[in-house]
Amino acid sequence: MQVLHSLEALHNWRAAHTDVALVPTMGNLHDGHLALVELARQHAAHVVVSIFVNPLQFGPNEDFARYPRSFDADCARLQSAGADAVFAPDAAALFPQPQRYHVEPPALANELCGAFRPGHFRGVATIVLKLLNLVQPRIAVFGRKDYQQLAIIRGLCADLNVPVQIIAGDTVRAADGLALSSRNGFLSADERAEAPRLHQALNEIGQQLVAGQRDFATLEHAAAQTLAKHGWRVDYIAIRRLDLALSDATDTHFIILGAAHLGRTRLIDNLELTVAENL
Ligand code: PAF
Repeated sequence: MQVLHSLEALHNWRAAHTDVALVPTMGNLHDGHLALVELARQHAAHVVVSIFVNPLQFGPNEDFARYPRSFDADCARLQSAGADAVFAPDAAALFPQPQRYHVEPPALANELCGAFRPGHFRGVATIVLKLLNLVQPRIAVFGRKDYQQLAIIRGLCADLNVPVQIIAGDTVRAADGLALSSRNGFLSADERAEAPRLHQALNEIGQQLVAGQRDFATLEHAAAQTLAKHGWRVDYIAIRRLDLALSDATDTHFIILGAAHLGRTRLIDNLELTVAENL
């Protein structure tokens, strides 16, 4: 596995490898990331994983400085997962001068997570476009756990005619249901024990939808109340269509999304659900 730090090293590696899949990450890799690498390997001859903690997507009061960085351990995991290369530029390589041009995503970027993280998806879309332009992969793989990010990146590539195929990987969960996330490492032992409740709350909404309940606001509110009762600070619980438009009582496909803080750690999760046609 080759470790590429400079744009020149990436360029040379890329020139020698056709049929490339890119897995963009911010490092501190867990089994969820490794599943994305495996998926990438199934779709392309060569896999490059980028590791870059992108300052553009963090707000001024967010966790950019304390975001976990574990480069050597990440490389070891990627080597055994069969990645062909790691692209790990430093900020000076990606931003030789402060970024002047940004991708301006549509209104969706101001909803759900975007409502609580102003500018976040603009920063994500901008860095992803830069990475796609640098690597020029045939395929890029993103996780479904970041469902809104996935939707925005799909929209970005469609609207700006970026010649890449986006592939989505399923969320990987711990045995107790908690979605794997680089931020889980921030949780104290007590918080870690409490953390699966977010997934449970989304599941309970799913069961209510299956049972025919369609009062979305009541379901969202009840789940948020349950979490709050157990010490969470809830950003949102939302039932949406798969394209993230507002749901309708006649819908049969839903995505239930949630974002909430446990102590200083913000967790997100979602659940896709298909229910039987309403009679
Ligand atoms: O999902 C992430 O880790 C990041 O948002 C991404 C896509 C690597 C962009 O920095």
